[in-house]
Amino acid sequence: MKSRIFVTADNSSTLFSEDFGEHYHSINGALTESKHIFINLGFLSIEKPQISILEIGYGTGLNAILTFLANADRQSSVYYHGIEKFPVDGNTLLELKYQNYLKISQQKMSLFADNWDSAIRIDNNFELFKQCVDFNEFIPNKTYDIIYFDAFSPETQPDMWKVENLEKILTCLSTGGVFVTYCSRGDLKRNLRYLGMNVKRFSGPPGKRHVLRATKI
Ligand SMILES: C[S@@+](CC[C@H](N)C(=O)[O-])C[C@H]1O[C@@H](n2cnc3c(N)ncnc32)[C@H](O)[C@@H]1O
Repeated sequence: MKSRIFVTADNSSTLFSEDFGEHYHSINGALTESKHIFINLGFLSIEKPQISILEIGYGTGLNAILTFLANADRQSSVYYHGIEKFPVDGNTLLELKYQNYLKISQQKMSLFADNWDSAIRIDNNFELFKQCVDFNEFIPNKTYDIIYFDAFSPETQPDMWKVENLEKILTCLSTGGVFVTYCSRGDLKRNLRYLGMNVKRFSGPPGKRHVLRATKI
């Protein structure tokens, strides 16, 4: 996929996809957005000794890297399953320079980019499985505690957000588990409620009024 690097308002970088005409993160701050939605509202909301996470739209791996770093303070045993149809190559990931402002070595960073389709250990508490697959064809066969839903917007890729796709992953969410996303559209909220989720709206990161966290009842 064709993409170029874009520096966002908090000085962290993201990619702009030429094919989809959309940035991978908010231009008002990639790092700020990822931390606010996926780490603070998602990962840190679940306290368990063992946590499994499914990410739809692995992209640059920023959410995975931030989850790994957040877990250093908690030491849960994390299984992180990212799915992605168009993997970003390792060189591009290093060019985003996340290693310059996150506490992570270049060597560890590369682990988040390479090794597709086989589970690897980043450390004793973090197992990463990056699967190259089209979400529309993905068949989950595990239970997850957290779903990071980070697809391109419903305007750009409506198929990703269709109720059948939401249903197949929410079926695999454990009771009390959470689904977090940057999108707060009314039709998404309605679909999540229809699928039995308790939907809550939260203030968004800069430039975004609201984001969603839905909990499985
Ligand atoms: C908003 S970006 C994800 C940002 C990512 N979470 C990050 O931290 O960089 C959306 C991602 O969905 C991926 N994608 C697009 N269509 C897909 C599909 N059919 N199946 C799986 N992934 C897809 C894109 O390649 C892109 O990486």
